[in-house]
Amino acid sequence: MNPAMPDPRRASASASLASLAAAAVTILLLSGCGEPAPAEGAPAGSVADASPVVLVTGSTDGLGRELALRLAAEGAHLIIHGRNAERGAEVVAAIEAGGVGSARFLAADFAVLDEVRRLADDIRRDYDRLDLLVNNAGVGPGAPGHERVLTPDGHELRFQVNYLAGFLLTRELLPLLEAGAPSRIVSITSRNQQALDFDDLRMDAGYAGGVAYGKSKLAQVLMTLDLAEEMADRGVQAFAVHPAPAMETALVRETGSTPQSTVEQGVEAVLNAIRSTDHPSGTYFFELEPRPAHDQAYDLEARRRLRELSEAMVTAAPAEGVGTAAAPSGAR
Ligand SMILES: NC(=O)c1ccc[n+]([C@@H]2O[C@H](COP(=O)([O-])OP(=O)(O)OC[C@H]3O[C@@H](n4cnc5c(N)ncnc54)[C@H](OP(=O)(O)O)[C@@H]3O)[C@@H](O)[C@H]2O)c1
Repeated sequence: MNPAMPDPRRASASASLASLAAAAVTILLLSGCGEPAPAEGAPAGSVADASPVVLVTGSTDGLGRELALRLAAEGAHLIIHGRNAERGAEVVAAIEAGGVGSARFLAADFAVLDEVRRLADDIRRDYDRLDLLVNNAGVGPGAPGHERVLTPDGHELRFQVNYLAGFLLTRELLPLLEAGAPSRIVSITSRNQQALDFDDLRMDAGYAGGVAYGKSKLAQVLMTLDLAEEMADRGVQAFAVHPAPAMETALVRETGSTPQSTVEQGVEAVLNAIRSTDHPSGTYFFELEPRPAHDQAYDLEARRRLRELSEAMVTAAPAEGVGTAAAPSGAR
């Protein structure tokens, strides 16, 4: 067969794998957790443990915290992540008190790429599969008029924490997601999506927090479309979701805006993206409905540039003399 021609056997295998993936994730996270008790003595994440293993980044607070509590209440094993160990321990304790799922906390500051690598190493050491990765950790548009912050790795803070760290973490965890296939990657983006300028990803010119935020959120969508394509035959699906407008969280409070929706509304939208079986991998959900994302998400050249630049950024050594400004503290 001409290698340029699609192989129909492969296409149909891929289609059935995709629907199997969707169905299995639904079963696992909707109802399959009804019998969460792991095999006696089986470590969480081992093949012998039937509980779905879920990593929600940024689950010490806000949307991620509530989502983690919901999934654990259905029997999942949650890897709680953030910077703030005290709040992380509180979420783990709340899950344990619920008596259904299980949890542990792993700290990593996404403003430091080495910490993202260490997080991935810790997860690969302790788990042999991952059923669901939710890329949720994020910094918002920030207080009006604030100054740009560069990370110790030399990148604009929102670009790194909201997108680049998730890009690196996802790539590092793909083998575990494949081992957990059918599995899913759900990235929490925003309706605020702004075109990336590949000649100035650091925003040396014209920095504004809301614009930086919108660029980082669109980058997550470009990554999602790439992942959907790359993993189509490997049982790993990728979705992006804008959860709800201005939920009542620290991220919104910091901007000084008035909240317009509850965290519960956002959780429902994310659960819909986790469980949806009606839409193909690569779908962007605006709350509960699939919608086209920003035009740049469908520009293949833009996706190629972002992918190549991101790969270079996560392999480069930290730039010297940058990142002197501290990232916003985890101890809000
Ligand atoms: N709130 C909204 O209305 C809204 C709307 C659309 C999309 N979203 C998206 O939803 C996600 C969650 O937002 P939220 O409103 O729930 O925010 P939030 O309440 O401020 O929570 C943010 C989470 O991210 C973690 N985080 C922040 N900076 C981090 C860093 N440098 N390294 C590691 N973890 C970090 C925080 O943990 P630590 O403090 O422990 O580090 C916390 O768990 C974000 O991706 C956001 O863009 C939110």
